[in-house]
Amino acid sequence: MKIAVIGKGGREHALIKAFKDSPSAPEMYCFPGSDAINQLATPIPATDLASLIQWMKENQIDLCVAGEESYLVKDNGLANECEAAGIPCWGPHKQSAQLEASKEFAKEFLLRHNIPTGTAHVAADLDEARQFIAGKYPTVLKFDGLAAGKGVAVCMNEQEAESFLSEVFTEKRFGDGRLLIEEFLTGPEVSIFGALVDENYLILCPARDYKRLGEGDLGPNTGGMGAVASRQLVTPELMDEIEKTIVAPTVAGLRADGLPYRGFLYFGLMLTPEGPKVIEYNCRFGDPECQAVMPLLQGDLAAFCLAGAQGKFEPSLISFSDAWSVCCVLASKGYPESSHNGDAISGLDSVENGFVYHAGTTWNDEKGVYETNGGRVLAVVAQGDSLAEARQRAHMEAAKVDFDGSQRRKDIGFASFA
Ligand code: AMP
Ligand code: GLY
Repeated sequence: MKIAVIGKGGREHALIKAFKDSPSAPEMYCFPGSDAINQLATPIPATDLASLIQWMKENQIDLCVAGEESYLVKDNGLANECEAAGIPCWGPHKQSAQLEASKEFAKEFLLRHNIPTGTAHVAADLDEARQFIAGKYPTVLKFDGLAAGKGVAVCMNEQEAESFLSEVFTEKRFGDGRLLIEEFLTGPEVSIFGALVDENYLILCPARDYKRLGEGDLGPNTGGMGAVASRQLVTPELMDEIEKTIVAPTVAGLRADGLPYRGFLYFGLMLTPEGPKVIEYNCRFGDPECQAVMPLLQGDLAAFCLAGAQGKFEPSLISFSDAWSVCCVLASKGYPESSHNGDAISGLDSVENGFVYHAGTTWNDEKGVYETNGGRVLAVVAQGDSLAEARQRAHMEAAKVDFDGSQRRKDIGFASFA
């Protein structure tokens, strides 16, 4: 079996390793990949979606897996193009991927299908936005389009709101687009992952991620500074409620709206005092949740995804252990406002009781070292029978890895756990 994974970050590194470790032992390919990923997968010499599809067809790729979201909505859409070329694809069609690509589309979908979520208004310009905010704080502002996890601002006061409004409408930092003004919700967050095959779904191992840069959940939002995963993160009763009020109605809603879906679907939830509510959908696995979840996976992920992409739902092919997994992200100097490349990374070889997934690194052949090459650089992941054991290992292993200006939260696995 030949599998091609689309993406280049830590999530794709984790997915590729999980596929490669599957009993069906697929040959792995990646686009665009990275130096670290290329140790496990052959890079595909494509330059865009069209040449990628062409290459996969010519090289008889059995399964294309969408790691990241951007290709799902680029041009005609990765899954649509794969379908036209006869390549099974694990990842939804362009029209379904609007659930992630447009916050407005997602909000309308949620309301139409009576799925619990915060109330919201959509503003086309600065004046409208100010009208909807109406001086009430905290307020949540969400840019309508894809913004690599940076298009959301939880604003505690007018100054914070005005600063984000100016990024969106004056500087146009995320390009053209409208803005959602959403009700501020409170409660712990949890990431739920579904593997959807048409009208069927399997709920995978849940996780919690840490979006803020600083300890104590302070500072700016990032792509994710760490994650904890375990089946024990959510009680069976709560998972039941999440399934009944959110997962099942979402899958039924996709069918009712004629939105085809085969692939991972990520439900970003807030456990509010009135029950779980959806704060976002993502049409792919979470990053860095994937790095925490994959080491807990048992069975044959490759066979499961291939069957799913072909429309065959085979949930017995995979399961998750009862262990805990903790993922600590190391980010480069200046992240998330900027990032710093070319800082030599030390200590990678001394990680023994964990695994290092590369997110933004490059191999310097001359010096014989990996160097930073992006905002989020690495994820160090470790497991244990208890949360305490897993986090102790993860932090101990992460502390062995270093580079100039590295940023790492020391409270991953502590914060948000009583
Ligand atoms: P999103 O990209 O939509 O997941 O939002 C990023 C982060 O902003 C979430 O993980 C939450 O911490 C926060 N957030 C999003 N929506 C809300 C909301 N309605 N109320 C409070 N916080 C929110
Ligand atoms: N961990 C958040 C995300 O993948 O969007």
